[in-house]
Amino acid sequence: MQVSSALQQRILERIQDEGPISFATYMRMALYEPGFGYYVTGEAKMGWEGDYYTSTDVANFFAHSMGRQLQQMWEQLGRPAHFGVLEQGSGRGDLARQIQKWATQEAPDFLAALRYQVADINTGEDALTTLASDFEPSVILSNELVDAFPVHVVEKQGEHLYEVHVTSQNGRLREIADEYENPALNTYLDSFKIPWRTFADGWRAEINLDALVWMKRTSQLLLGTNPRRKRRGFILAIDYGDTARQLYINDRHHGTLTCYYQHQLSDRPLVRPGEQDITAHVNFTALIRTAREQGLRLQTLTTQRQWLMDHGIYEELERLHQQHFGKIDTDRASDQGQIALLQWYNLRQRVSVLTNPMSMGNFKVLIMKR
Ligand SMILES: C[S@@+](CC[C@H](N)C(=O)[O-])C[C@H]1O[C@@H](n2cnc3c(N)ncnc32)[C@H](O)[C@@H]1O
Repeated sequence: MQVSSALQQRILERIQDEGPISFATYMRMALYEPGFGYYVTGEAKMGWEGDYYTSTDVANFFAHSMGRQLQQMWEQLGRPAHFGVLEQGSGRGDLARQIQKWATQEAPDFLAALRYQVADINTGEDALTTLASDFEPSVILSNELVDAFPVHVVEKQGEHLYEVHVTSQNGRLREIADEYENPALNTYLDSFKIPWRTFADGWRAEINLDALVWMKRTSQLLLGTNPRRKRRGFILAIDYGDTARQLYINDRHHGTLTCYYQHQLSDRPLVRPGEQDITAHVNFTALIRTAREQGLRLQTLTTQRQWLMDHGIYEELERLHQQHFGKIDTDRASDQGQIALLQWYNLRQRVSVLTNPMSMGNFKVLIMKR
């Protein structure tokens, strides 16, 4: 039996036993059910042959900017001899490899201090539950991790919020809006002063409670266990999303839930459970607030476009132009000149994908520090 139909069967059985399950429970099973979930089964998901690609896949300019960012943090901390970096949700480890390659060429003294550790749920390390307590990181970073955590979905009707549940009808999965059980859902939107009562009926939003758990644990992991000697360091998280007030607006009537299957976008999370990625935009205000409660301060919240610019992406592009693409100016008509021109266009195109304000350039980069 295919992963999807076997998992679907499991989900249907659970609904039979327990009644309708919350969308968050459904999403947790679809993505993380041992042996079946999207993130815990073996096949290729990332990159051009998978379902989606990330900034790391687009071009190593992203990793190089991250390298320069980490080097800056290392300097901010006074160049410690051991500089621990923990990357959560590291996938195949491409970002780690590209950063280390960059450091080998561009920053050997930084490389000598760098202790870079990767962790991913596909090797059994869940960022929500495991604490790498024997590892002292100065930086905990993630790219497109938090958007994968299971979300609750609420729907506004009249003066009330209902929670979207998943039930079965004639052997198929179907959504219904129902009363919620988790009291945290009741206060969540109000705590960010979202005027949802004025929004149109049927308005939907995702609430990522696991993101709060994650930020709390991650902050604690960074600070260490000794309350009198809290460690200094940074949490850096990149993802799509926005501040609460930008995210939860009337115009976004259907919320931000998105599925990816073989590079096709869809808004049908109940089909192919376990075979497609399901994500939702991240509420960065919630992450900042949770980290502040743990004693961290906000250093940066900006767009990926701005962050890449601040970390030298265009200077790097210009340097490459001068070093390797001189033929374009001196010998454009020759075969070599034409090849150089195509390669140059290709590089420039990749940079514009990373910085495009309509897509990856609009990802947010959050840095919390202590
Ligand atoms: C969109 S990919 C990003 C991969 C990589 N960071 C990059 O930029 O190419 C999301 C990754 O997060 C991992 N992941 C999802 N949920 C996780 C969790 N709860 N704990 C640890 N890793 C998780 C997935 O297995 C996947 O490798």
